[in-house]
Amino acid sequence: MSHVHVMDHPLIQHKVSLMRDKETGPKEFRELLNEISMLMAYEVTRDLPLKTVQIETPICSAQTKVIAGKKLAIVPILRAGLGMVDGIMSLVPAAKIGHIGLYRDPNTLEPVEYYCKLPADAQEREILLLDPMLATGGSAVAAIGFLKKRGCHNIKLVNLIAAPEGINRVQQEHPDVEIFVAALDEKLNDHGYIIPGLGDAGDRLFGTK
Ligand code: PRP
Ligand code: URA
Repeated sequence: MSHVHVMDHPLIQHKVSLMRDKETGPKEFRELLNEISMLMAYEVTRDLPLKTVQIETPICSAQTKVIAGKKLAIVPILRAGLGMVDGIMSLVPAAKIGHIGLYRDPNTLEPVEYYCKLPADAQEREILLLDPMLATGGSAVAAIGFLKKRGCHNIKLVNLIAAPEGINRVQQEHPDVEIFVAALDEKLNDHGYIIPGLGDAGDRLFGTK
């Protein structure tokens, strides 16, 4: 069973509450998602390996630690995942970026793929798969499936808000994938929206409704 990390730091909880508020407009919504993603990146990268290097401080020579050069790839699920890219990249600027285009059919709730472009060496990289919403889990399970089909096996899923249904589905179908969420909500409604959630993340991010 994959691990679920709920990042309930007070700053994150505060910012998620502002995002949930229906009066929050696209500009503030984007800024908040950006800030939360940066805070989440701090935890998601906690296990990056370090190596010891020798440096000269102004006082003496010292052995200190730097990141051992583990390669990362950031892969947002289009469209709403795009809103998490800049925040994560501000902490790991050397990461490569791939894209997976999926939308959820509003009638069947099944994911439909329309785009996939990954870094050439994606198989050698740890993948941070980004999507603000984990609802039924259909989109995340499909995206993880595409990544695995292309040889990627070191995958972390990073969501802003998750429903228990989505967590369970990812855990069942991809038990090797660690899940990082800022909030674990109550349930889904009859249309597959997260309760209380924040509505349609893509529409709120891009102002399309
Ligand atoms: C939303 C969201 C996820 C998906 C989650 O995308 O960003 O990708 O729904 O739902 P699921 O867990 O039930 O699959 P949507 O299909 O609305 O596309 P968009 O990002 O283009 O708006
Ligand atoms: N997609 C969203 O954007 N929001 C939800 O609540 C569920 C799926």
